[in-house]
Amino acid sequence: MMGRCATALLMALLVVVSPAAFAAAVASQASPGGVLKVEVSLDNEGHALYSVTRRGRPVIDASRLGFLFTDAPKFERNLTLAAQSTDSHDDTWEQPWGERRYVRNHYNELRVTLQERIAPARKLDVVFRVYDDGLGFRYEFPQQPALTTVNIGDELTEFAVAEHAMAWWIPAGEWNRYEYLYNKTALDQVGQAHTPITVRTDSGLHIAFHEAALVDYSSMWLRRVTGQRLKSTLSPSSSVARVSRTAPFNTPWRTMQIADSAGGLVMSDLILNLNEPNQLGDVSWVHPFKYVGVWWGMHLGTETWASGPHHGATTANTKRYIDFAARHGFRGVLVEGWNKGWDGDWFANGADFSFTESYPDFDLEAVTRYARSKGVRLIGHHETSGNIANYERQLGAALDLYARLGVDSVKTGYVADAGGIQAIGPDGKPRFEWHDGQVMSRHHLKVVTEAAKRHIAVNPHEPIKDTGLRRTYPNWVAREGARGMEYNAWGDPPNPPEHEPNLVFTRMLAGPMDFTPGVLSLVGKNGQRIQSTIARQLANYVVLYSPIQMAADLPENYEKHLDAFQFIKDVPTDWSDTQVLDGEVGDYVAIARKDRNSNDWYLGAVTDEHARLVEVTLDFLDQDRSYTAQIYRDGNDADWQRAPFSIAIEKRPVRRGEKMMLRLASGGGQAIRFVAAKR
Ligand code: NOJ
Ligand code: CA
Repeated sequence: MMGRCATALLMALLVVVSPAAFAAAVASQASPGGVLKVEVSLDNEGHALYSVTRRGRPVIDASRLGFLFTDAPKFERNLTLAAQSTDSHDDTWEQPWGERRYVRNHYNELRVTLQERIAPARKLDVVFRVYDDGLGFRYEFPQQPALTTVNIGDELTEFAVAEHAMAWWIPAGEWNRYEYLYNKTALDQVGQAHTPITVRTDSGLHIAFHEAALVDYSSMWLRRVTGQRLKSTLSPSSSVARVSRTAPFNTPWRTMQIADSAGGLVMSDLILNLNEPNQLGDVSWVHPFKYVGVWWGMHLGTETWASGPHHGATTANTKRYIDFAARHGFRGVLVEGWNKGWDGDWFANGADFSFTESYPDFDLEAVTRYARSKGVRLIGHHETSGNIANYERQLGAALDLYARLGVDSVKTGYVADAGGIQAIGPDGKPRFEWHDGQVMSRHHLKVVTEAAKRHIAVNPHEPIKDTGLRRTYPNWVAREGARGMEYNAWGDPPNPPEHEPNLVFTRMLAGPMDFTPGVLSLVGKNGQRIQSTIARQLANYVVLYSPIQMAADLPENYEKHLDAFQFIKDVPTDWSDTQVLDGEVGDYVAIARKDRNSNDWYLGAVTDEHARLVEVTLDFLDQDRSYTAQIYRDGNDADWQRAPFSIAIEKRPVRRGEKMMLRLASGGGQAIRFVAAKR
């Protein structure tokens, strides 16, 4: 009797206690300063698990590692530790352009070789790089007889957040790709999310989950399994396998940035550090710049991409933008709708686009010549409507044309619903793919490397997410990949004031965004109000990092606000240093950045719908310099709903160490240029 009871009790225990409880640690590694520690364990069924602690407290509970294959048994249980080794690394590298000039890459590494204890005894390495401000790990598939062609059905990596947390996230696998408003929910209410997804635990720890170096692989989405346990799921493919590779190969890095404050996430260089160094050699031909363009009029509906009486991309209209750019010191002029293919339903007719033939009212040669004569460059545009088959067929000729005309950057576009990318499959037949699947990770790198051969920089819209590949390919200067300014023209709803404070601590952790800020007229299509004050439009140039920044409004609107416009003319797009002064996810943020080409500093601060006071200390200014602060602040009565145009522009001397109170209106912001005195 007793025996049977004991057995029943043991059975009950086996059911309620998670497998992790039986796990034994087999390897570990701490970060250089001892802040983070990762531990690898194996449970009694041979599952491999990892866990993370920070200063001794659990951050990530035991979480599984592994893969499903479409043509082989899964690699997830019956594993043993075949080998382990450690390494460490500390160096500092220079960015050709960026948020800061020098980046320290300081980590300790742990490599574990997992092997099946039953036939066919396949092996897989997992490599962890542990930094004080986060960690990344990736799978490395060695060459082995039992696993040469690797067809991955899904990845089984888990991320079990130990402490109760809130999460900021957008849905993954939905039709509008990355262009959703951010959800703020308890982490245990997340469905399926894109990365970066940012969480804040009850004790105030911030963790952002993402990936680095997404090359020839499918993007990782995170799906909540149970409680606070997230699991990777790979973006789908038209093939049964979501990823097909030949060993040896590595997966992208699975990353966790971990900080006490929201700002700490932004200060982390983890994603860049986990990417390979620059492979393009001399990239002095890649220029950070500001630009204007034949663009906002189309989003307002007053001009068209298509030919006809309201065609925006005419020779005359583009010359008007070139004159405006030359007069106000902008390097670039974007022109959309210059090429044939926009007539009719261009969302659906991607096959019609020609990337070399212009509409009759647009003389590409004359326009580029005129631009050059004014010291301005035309910015090329390739909208594909997601038809990469059509685009890839023309890619070489399209880029050659731009290169010949001195067009040294191109904006690309992939307007199509998620899952609506049209490609050619391995069998030569048309296939539908996802914007962030393996096919698109290959496509984007093909465009970027083909463009690099011709010294052209690339800025895709409706892109694959950023995973830090700008380090390896510095001509991949920016991308969209979130709701940008265009949503303020026609979005239903438009972007709410919390949008930018959300972006900074989520999307922007991935890398630069071509948000296209600076609409000083503050109205969208059919008079739709932009939920912003005018000062906030200026602040966004500092808050939302990109080496290329558009001044998105119409020239005639800038002419009406020349005082505020001065900040947009002055603000640089390349920085030697960046410091987050304060901020909370989705609430507000204040960032200071130092110009890479002068001793001036700039500050941008934005808030959500709540007016607030943010006190900052000017500790970032150089000790031995004096500065004049050129302040563009919300006027005393400013408020995005009642008095959006109320702005106060003031000058005063300031010094390092001084405190400044930033008064931000509802939907407001503040922009400051700290002009260093000449010595
Ligand atoms: C969507 C892009 O985000 C936008 O900037 C562009 O104007 C249109 N597609 C047309 O290519
Ligand atoms: Ca878009």
